[in-house]
Amino acid sequence: MSNLEIVDVSHAYGPKKVLNHVNLRVGAGQVVALVGPSGCGKSTLLRAILGTHPSTEGTVMVGGQEVIRPNRDVGIVYQHYSLYEFLTARENVAFGLMLDQTSTPYRWFMYFGWRKLRKQHLEQADEFLKKVGLYAARDQYPSQMSGGMRQRVAIAQALIMEPKILLLDEPFGALDEATREELQLMLLRLYEENVRARSENRTPPYTVIIVTHELNEALFVSDRVVGLSQYHNDGENGATIVYDRPAPVFKPDEPKDLSRFVEQKEELIRAVFSPTFQKDHRQFVTFWQENKKQPVEETSEVN
Ligand SMILES: Nc1ncnc2c1ncn2[C@@H]1O[C@H](COP(=O)(O)OP(=O)(O)OP(=O)(O)O)[C@@H](O)[C@H]1O
Ligand SMILES: [Mg+2]
Repeated sequence: MSNLEIVDVSHAYGPKKVLNHVNLRVGAGQVVALVGPSGCGKSTLLRAILGTHPSTEGTVMVGGQEVIRPNRDVGIVYQHYSLYEFLTARENVAFGLMLDQTSTPYRWFMYFGWRKLRKQHLEQADEFLKKVGLYAARDQYPSQMSGGMRQRVAIAQALIMEPKILLLDEPFGALDEATREELQLMLLRLYEENVRARSENRTPPYTVIIVTHELNEALFVSDRVVGLSQYHNDGENGATIVYDRPAPVFKPDEPKDLSRFVEQKEELIRAVFSPTFQKDHRQFVTFWQENKKQPVEETSEVN
């Protein structure tokens, strides 16, 4: 079973069709970069996965359950994510757990039990702050943090809920180049945990879809690139998936060798972003099967 299954999803805003028969499966542990021309419907697709704006047609399943409203199986971090200004980094990260597991009556009647639970939540928060490289700043308030630090807290806050899928919508878009690179490396470190889990026959913990308009970033942080585009010639309006291929996997401690993805970047620009490039878009779509190291070519629909 895939963590995410999008089956025949279409979406229209009034008469305007934005998404057209989108099919996508994402297996546990994949990090998918979602790219496409501005306004093609990437955020619309994420909102359908999140459950805040269900699609007008088709179904979205997360962990085998149909998504009809937001739930804790799906986490999201936006470009400008707001933290609770009156809470420290670790309190911000622990907040979702506290809300989820303690009700106000519980706190009144089980004061000592609640204190113990709160301590556990804060310790868990520390673990996630370590994963995003922010443990040293755990007692700082958001107003004392840089933009990059705040995004790390936001990501830890989402990860601590152990979502089946984490959605990142241009998460590093507001950051300067150097900070952005540090956060990309942070994602590669999380991916290494997936690789380790897989080698030990455990379920990889992080399944991610990251929307980015930076193609270098898309190819660097992901193991699979999906292109959503309105530029296709199957005769219908609205964007669909016109590109779906594995991306090169980088290790955080190896030099970033850009030459490894020059060709793929060119291919993406033509296949996804060019309004005039004529193609049979299936040519660039390779579905990826879970638990297989190699992608498999499939001409049929998702099965
Ligand atoms: N609530 C809405 N009502 C009407 N039209 C909308 C609404 N939200 C988005 N749209 C339109 O739907 C299309 C897709 O928008 P969406 O935000 O999903 O695109 P996007 O791919 O995320 O774009 P960007 O790369 O600029 O973030 C756009 O043309 C947009 O104007
Ligand atoms: Mg968007």
